[in-house]
Amino acid sequence: MAALSRRPLVVDGTLRVPGDKSISHRALLLAALATGTSRIRGLLAGDDVRSTAGVLRAMGVTVPPVGPTVTVAGVGRRGFVAPPTPLACGNSGTTARLVAGLVAAHPFAATFVGDASLSRRPMRRVARPLEAMGATVTFGGAKGEGLPMTVQGGALRSIEWRAETASAQVKSAVLLAGHAAGVPVSVTEPAPSRDHTERMLQAMGAKVSRRGATVALDPVASLRPLDLDVPADASSAAFFVALATLAGDGVLRLPGVGLNRTRTGFLDALMAMGARVAREDETVAGAEPIGTLVVQPAALQGVTVGGADIPAMIDELPLLACVAARAAGTTTIRDAGELRGKESDRIAAVVANLRAVGVSASELEDGLVVEGTDAPLVGRVVTHADHRLAMAFGVLGAATGGGIAVDDPECVAVSYPGFWDDLARVTRR
Ligand code: S3P
Repeated sequence: MAALSRRPLVVDGTLRVPGDKSISHRALLLAALATGTSRIRGLLAGDDVRSTAGVLRAMGVTVPPVGPTVTVAGVGRRGFVAPPTPLACGNSGTTARLVAGLVAAHPFAATFVGDASLSRRPMRRVARPLEAMGATVTFGGAKGEGLPMTVQGGALRSIEWRAETASAQVKSAVLLAGHAAGVPVSVTEPAPSRDHTERMLQAMGAKVSRRGATVALDPVASLRPLDLDVPADASSAAFFVALATLAGDGVLRLPGVGLNRTRTGFLDALMAMGARVAREDETVAGAEPIGTLVVQPAALQGVTVGGADIPAMIDELPLLACVAARAAGTTTIRDAGELRGKESDRIAAVVANLRAVGVSASELEDGLVVEGTDAPLVGRVVTHADHRLAMAFGVLGAATGGGIAVDDPECVAVSYPGFWDDLARVTRR
């Protein structure tokens, strides 16, 4: 391992991070359901989005290779054909769960398969509302609710679903099933999750209403095609916001970042810790607020996060825990039991990895506790092929002198294939 650098890290320049992963999935799926041809610019060219494109192709939709501009001819709201092979979802929970909703409304069966990580993830949460609507869902996995999962679709009933956990994937599956089947649906969550599906459906002409944590959809016969610029991904930008905050010098500008309030909980938490992040050029792109983030170094204090704030920062919690390693005092994350069902058990993995590099951290059943330190951090991180763990510890390593090795740097390809190049481009000592 290289000797630790003692020179202060400079994080400087302008970086446009890739397109939003959640919005990219939805853009492809909703373009496929539209009547007419959609144009999508800035789609994320990551493995997860390729999985969604591949699944659509398997059901008869013509989707070109993911590039700077993608054109999709919609097949209408129930125009998929029965796939000749299982639907390969790779590492992508969003692909499996959202497409399950669409298959449920079609008169055929499809089997969903994925990699080892996705095959372990909870699917019963999406099966239950779809079964209540009239679909049949069976599981072939070891735990009785993982992939392979077979969804037998058909004529669906209307539903008013009360979800036990805040999950945009489950909410979206029900909304997509309702739209495709032509039946009204509503979903009530314990706290509001990301609302990209609702916004995009509404922009395409669907009748969507929202009250508190309830969203309701009244079906329309057809959706207008999309003409969309995908915002830069707030979750990908978060890694660089963290890096520039932990730096010793420099100013980093991140243009065109999605600033939807259901996604910016990490920024709020970081500001509460003392970060210096300004928002400039705020505007609206398509149905989503965007803006430029301007980040300067800051000394941070520990923070406590929990409750209804968690869904808006759920994917950034491993990063928040890594940042907390360099904040004065204690950081506590609660009400985040959902982290145990992500690409890895992100509570166990983050705590084990923080300890492996010399940070004092402990698990809670639904969260974790981190003690900040300014000691050198050195060690090897086990990612469990989880892209967000690789990037969170990549940031902590870069910010602390380069003593942290990541076992599987390639796994970032799921959401941010150029991550390590971008990291090198904006940093210097
Ligand atoms: C996502 C929703 C969240 C998030 C995931 C992407 C989406 O998952 O963690 O990375 O695009 O809808 P849940 O729906 O399981 O909360």
